Amino acid sequence: MTSHDTRRARVLSGMRPTGPLHLGHYHGVLKNWVQLQHEHECFFFVADWHALTTAYDEREIIANNVWHLVIDWLACGVNPSLAQVFIQSRVIEHAELHLMLSMVAPLGWLERVPTYKDQIENLREKDLATYGFLGYPVLQSADILMYKATAVPVGEDQVSHVELTRELARRFNYIFGREPDFAEKAEAAVRKMGKKNAKLYRELRRRYQEQGDAEALEVAQALLADQQNITLGDRERLFGYLEGGGRTILPEPEALLTPAPRMPGLDGRKMSKSYGNTIFLREEPDEVDRKVRTMPTDPARVRRSDPGEPTKCPVWDFHKVYSDQRTQEWVLEGCRSAGIGCLECKRPVIDAIQAELAPIRERAQELESDPETVRNIVNEGCDGARSVARETMKEVRSAVGLDYR
Ligand code: TRP
Ligand code: SF4
Repeated sequence: MTSHDTRRARVLSGMRPTGPLHLGHYHGVLKNWVQLQHEHECFFFVADWHALTTAYDEREIIANNVWHLVIDWLACGVNPSLAQVFIQSRVIEHAELHLMLSMVAPLGWLERVPTYKDQIENLREKDLATYGFLGYPVLQSADILMYKATAVPVGEDQVSHVELTRELARRFNYIFGREPDFAEKAEAAVRKMGKKNAKLYRELRRRYQEQGDAEALEVAQALLADQQNITLGDRERLFGYLEGGGRTILPEPEALLTPAPRMPGLDGRKMSKSYGNTIFLREEPDEVDRKVRTMPTDPARVRRSDPGEPTKCPVWDFHKVYSDQRTQEWVLEGCRSAGIGCLECKRPVIDAIQAELAPIRERAQELESDPETVRNIVNEGCDGARSVARETMKEVRSAVGLDYR
């Protein structure tokens, strides 16, 4: 987050249940969640409806993955007494808010979200020309705005979705949050600025609100600051009117970029299931061993006696995550002087990963054999989430004018 007060943040994040988690998730996302739950009010949920937007024809897969995912979270230290852990589709209010937001979500905004075209390109074998898929970021906006989350921990690829959430919140507040006579008062104030300035103000306001032109907003704010002949009250009204004005029903969240150490995959590319370069959190010890031992190294080290260069070797990236300074120096020196062999070099990495995964694996096994406990945790999380969601929906329905009975 930028300048905001992060102390009393409400944090919300979700993951799609698309498969078992790996070390990339652990270092990139989960360790951060575990940290955040000690500092903030946290909501972590399984985005099963989001998974459905691309896997609508794979029903068993989602169900299995949901429980696997929750267990992975808990095994990594997500603590249900500190965070609400829930499943999106069990808090039906998300669907209602999604629908409400969809009423004011301009098609152009959705088509311009970068992940939209990217995903359609990447998943060519799937027909993603669906209403549900186009609405993916609207559903995500509903997830976030439902809890009035102030901070949303996400990776780089999700920042545009949080950005859209902010724009939708602004637009929702603008359309539904105005006091009955706010617009009249604001219009009267515009006229008091004089013909020329009023015209300029209206033009800039239109450019900002319709096209999100941030520069127009700045120019308009400067224009208002310069006005000599309007009252303080009118000036504030005009500032509010410029940005939407009126009441804030759904506050704008901020993306909280995960400060991840770069956890690369076994081949040096980003760790990702689709590259087949992962170590899963519940990987068997023998498999961990095998995977690291067969990792590629600096190609210059053909023979044991050839010196190598760690910065050209994916194993070195692992050392940067797992090894202390002494070990790192041992690697740098030993590799460049051919003093150590690659298998020798990999040993501390293997040991560190095994030490990291052993307690996770053990805890996951315990939970796996106790589905009752997992279900209870999720039930409670859903209840907690639902009670917040109900409050929000009351406000939303009332603002939209759907609270008649
Ligand atoms: N789209 C996110 C992802 O694929 C998952 C997600 C759904 C999410 N709703 C969210 C993340 C709300 C943060 C907040 O990673
Ligand atoms: Fe990579 Fe280590 Fe081999 Fe050097 S010694 S090439 S850093 S595995």
